[in-house]
Amino acid sequence: MMKNWILFFVLGLFWGCSNLPETPIANTEKLSTLPHDDHSYANLQQIRTKHLHLDLEVDFKAQTIYGVARHQMINKGADTAIFDVKGLLIQKVTLGDSKKSREKETDFTIGPMDKDSIIGQALLVNVDSNTTYVNIYYQTTTESAALDWLDTTLTSSKTKPFLYTQGQAILTRTWIPLQDSPSNRITYSADVKVPSDLLALMSAKNPTSLHPDGIFHFEMPYEIPSYLIALAVGDIGFKDLGSGCGVYAEKELLQQCATEFEDLPRMMQVANNLYGKYCWGRYDVLVLPYSFPFGGMENPMLTFANPTLLTGDKSLVSVLAHELAHSWSGNLVTNHSWSDLWLNEGTTVYFEQRIMEALSGKEVADIMALIEFDELQNALKEIQSSKHPEDSRLHLELVGRDPDLALSDVAYVKGAFFFKTLEQKVGRNALDKFLKNYFAHFAFQTIDANTFIDYLEQHLLNPLQIDFNYRQWIFGEGLPQNCIQIASPRLDQMSSYAQQFNAGSNPFKPQFKYKWIRKNGKRKKVKIDLSIHYEDRIIQEWQIFIRNLSPKTSATRMKQLDHDLHFSASQNSEVLKEWFVLAAQTSYALEIKPAIENFLVKVGRRKYLMPIYEALNSNPKTKQMARDIFNKAKHNYHSVSRGSVANLLNN
Ligand code: BES
Ligand code: ZN
Repeated sequence: MMKNWILFFVLGLFWGCSNLPETPIANTEKLSTLPHDDHSYANLQQIRTKHLHLDLEVDFKAQTIYGVARHQMINKGADTAIFDVKGLLIQKVTLGDSKKSREKETDFTIGPMDKDSIIGQALLVNVDSNTTYVNIYYQTTTESAALDWLDTTLTSSKTKPFLYTQGQAILTRTWIPLQDSPSNRITYSADVKVPSDLLALMSAKNPTSLHPDGIFHFEMPYEIPSYLIALAVGDIGFKDLGSGCGVYAEKELLQQCATEFEDLPRMMQVANNLYGKYCWGRYDVLVLPYSFPFGGMENPMLTFANPTLLTGDKSLVSVLAHELAHSWSGNLVTNHSWSDLWLNEGTTVYFEQRIMEALSGKEVADIMALIEFDELQNALKEIQSSKHPEDSRLHLELVGRDPDLALSDVAYVKGAFFFKTLEQKVGRNALDKFLKNYFAHFAFQTIDANTFIDYLEQHLLNPLQIDFNYRQWIFGEGLPQNCIQIASPRLDQMSSYAQQFNAGSNPFKPQFKYKWIRKNGKRKKVKIDLSIHYEDRIIQEWQIFIRNLSPKTSATRMKQLDHDLHFSASQNSEVLKEWFVLAAQTSYALEIKPAIENFLVKVGRRKYLMPIYEALNSNPKTKQMARDIFNKAKHNYHSVSRGSVANLLNN
């Protein structure tokens, strides 16, 4: 009977993932034969975690998590187990299964901090060759960079505090002592104690309401890499969106989130049809406070999202399409090391664009792709004249460097254009079939560029006898000549408006025409509005318009434009970003300082902060403004954003 129950459970887990290998967890006993990940100390070949149980207590007053990380390990006869830690206080380490009350303390040492402290420290634990349980008792510190503790003033309720974590790329080691390499996949469970008036959520099966004792239990039954372990605690409510999708947010934002994200079930349907059934159970989105350093983060079962996505017009929901797509590219098939972040992100941007094409049509999807392509071209120019021109390769050499460097338009957009160009070459049907099989074949595994190439040759290029310069794309610098060209007459029109404006005319000035018409037998003069209105164009069109305006535009003309089109008061953070960058370049920023300050103090998304601070910092007239605002704003940022901006302003 018991056996039957287990069988049902296992079948239940994978029912629906019909395109996946029969037992996705079967690779548990296999150790990867791919090269070691340079950003982890873990001795995975000798001993590695297969299941992690966390006992956590979240103390908002002390802004500390007290925890025990209970590692269930596969041991190939090691006498030392090596974990990654950074900014943690390790109290004691025991060996043995706590459930059988046989824990016994063991010796451990913490290695020196590496010279520039990028990867933190090795925690070396003495074990026996037959040890399979290692329990690490610890607490977090103010150096635990993954954690963002928000006091009440920074939340929308203004009455309850908030905590969330950001693990990718190598920050999980700052709140959990573990083997922090994407090359190792683990299942995890957790018992988390929080104040009883707050809800705790993880990248796992989640509750939808408070527990009177404040203790929440979590299970992540599928194997995931450590960067996807995530926790959030706050005054959070839930709203179901149907079809296994839902949204969590601070209660004040819930209804707005539900309306903005109502297309999630459709996105899910499109994604399922494209590349195989979603296999993580539910898909929920948690909208975090504004300090969240990213637009979205694909924590499995529970995407974390930035509230700047709440524009009121669904214009930024492509970020959710992106995070949903990661449920296949990234979470199911994971980059073995950060050198191949493009395998996570490039594939995901391609997939995201396919979802958006299905939802909004090809014209809009092309506009979105072109906006990013424009950014890629600027990024490539910068990389080419930098100290590391080789960073324009998809596969990167990151030894001794911060893996965050991989997070650039190269991995994302060059990566996506690699797939778009490949699609053009082999045809959409062939590429779709290939990708669907690719996700099924490598489900719950980690792969590197060479594994991808072997599969690409064997399952796409050789059978179709097609030559494709994938080596040049993956290992070569810059953009190969055969890169697909996309055109958008609508964006061309916006650039031409910008050129007209740059040449001195104002295409947005109110324009009317009078026309005589006959009504009820009488001649009547009617006024026809020929002016271009803000609402008539989509956000992405305005982005391109602003980007093409001259940095030499006078402050007076900037003001005129602002008067006609209200950019400084836009509700859309993408438009604000473009406008504030131009405002800094033209010194118009001096006139709209309150609007810029307001934005930078509130929003912590790094994608916006960096270009705005950079532009302010590069203009001698606004350099001081950048510093003044940063001093006011920095306490509101997550450490990821704070560190990046501080670096920028100090150089
Ligand atoms: N996984 C990334 C964020 C990330 C990557 C964090 C590498 C740390 C290291 C996430 O999926 C992402 O790409 N977010 C983007 C979304 C955008 C491309 C639609 C963001 O935040 O801007
Ligand atoms: Zn991504």
